[in-house]
Amino acid sequence: MQRLYRKRIIVGVGGGIAAYKSAELVRRLKDLGAEVRVVMTQGGREFITPLTLQALSGHPVHLDLLDPAAEAAMGHIELARWADLVLIAPATADLIARLAQGLANDLLTTLVLATDAPVALAPAMNQAMWRDPATADNLQLLQQRGMRLFGPASGSQACGDVGLGRMLEAAELAQLAADSFQRRALDGQHVLITAGPTQENIDPVRYITNHSSGKMGFALAEAAAEAGARVTLVCGPVHLRTPDRVERIDVVSARDMLAACEAAMPCDILIAAAAVADYRPEVVAPHKLKKDPASGEGFVLQMVRNPDILATIAGRADRPFSVGFAAETENLLEYASRKLRDKNLDLIVANDVANPDIGFNSEENAITVIDRGLQQTSFAQTSKGKIARQLITLIADRLNKS
Ligand SMILES: Cc1cc2nc3c(=O)[nH]c(=O)nc-3n(C[C@H](O)[C@H](O)[C@H](O)COP(=O)(O)O)c2cc1C
Repeated sequence: MQRLYRKRIIVGVGGGIAAYKSAELVRRLKDLGAEVRVVMTQGGREFITPLTLQALSGHPVHLDLLDPAAEAAMGHIELARWADLVLIAPATADLIARLAQGLANDLLTTLVLATDAPVALAPAMNQAMWRDPATADNLQLLQQRGMRLFGPASGSQACGDVGLGRMLEAAELAQLAADSFQRRALDGQHVLITAGPTQENIDPVRYITNHSSGKMGFALAEAAAEAGARVTLVCGPVHLRTPDRVERIDVVSARDMLAACEAAMPCDILIAAAAVADYRPEVVAPHKLKKDPASGEGFVLQMVRNPDILATIAGRADRPFSVGFAAETENLLEYASRKLRDKNLDLIVANDVANPDIGFNSEENAITVIDRGLQQTSFAQTSKGKIARQLITLIADRLNKS
């Protein structure tokens, strides 16, 4: 099957020993139906001749940025617009560093800045160069900006070392290029996710909160981003790393969380995984409360209802596909079904927080998802990451059918 039929791919060839595999890569991409143009760096030309790649791609190889004749034929901006994918193979440590800096000091780096097409890197370098923190930081930055990483593989290297840093084989790279054109389940969707606890102040030093760690909401944000969505993650106070390509908004109280969610609207999907405090102290004391002999052994803290974030967003005219969480310690399915109906939700995820293996703060979860027809889908106990991916797949499936 020609999985890359008429796809326009620029192969960027950097100055690494693995450049000899680029010739095979061009062949493989063409076998899958792609139209291929090759751009070489100065370094790349030291390892393989443009003539070889011209013969294999069927087009002159693009070499120089400041070349009037080449610019008149197919200029760098034209080339950048032409591409459906830019695949840099080999991506040397030097090239990766220049891309991370946003340099545009040759044709390939300029083209990467100028293109709207996805860019994939196939790193190829000595294992020590790969492990160097400078390379690791540069790659992390590029991935955060949305560049894809194909490889590298581990094994024996041209220099005699053994380790991570070998460029993937041409056939593997061609398949990954083909995979990257596959539509992902949430491409083009904006997903708003709430996570973690909220804190409700009593006075300047005390607050009321709960045991939510935010792990489930963060895992959902990561899974939604992996599925191609633009993700806004509104979270209460948690100690978790922000997943790549996720916009994180930190809040403290339930009212802050509602305001942040409203500011993030419109969205296509709302997943409310935060454990929002239902009540807050009616009055926040301006100064630290002191032990008052007049109140004896106790005192009464008057609480008032917080706004219901999920019901507010699900009740808007531009309501998204709305998914709630019901963390309960008893009558799980009954309470969850009631919440689904009362808050006008599309799906509710019921989880039993009384079970210490799967409750707040644990690494694993097990859930039952209930829809408007009260049909139940259960996911057995596994890591929160895996549960998140299963749930995102289910949500995407239901959204496409709704
Ligand atoms: C024989 C030889 C092999 C090299 N192989 C690699 C390599 O596999 N990966 C790499 O990152 N650099 C390698 N280098 C260093 C690069 O060629 C050098 O950093 C160059 O500036 C990279 O050019 P580029 O930025 O145009 O890719 C090698 C150098 C030599 C002399």
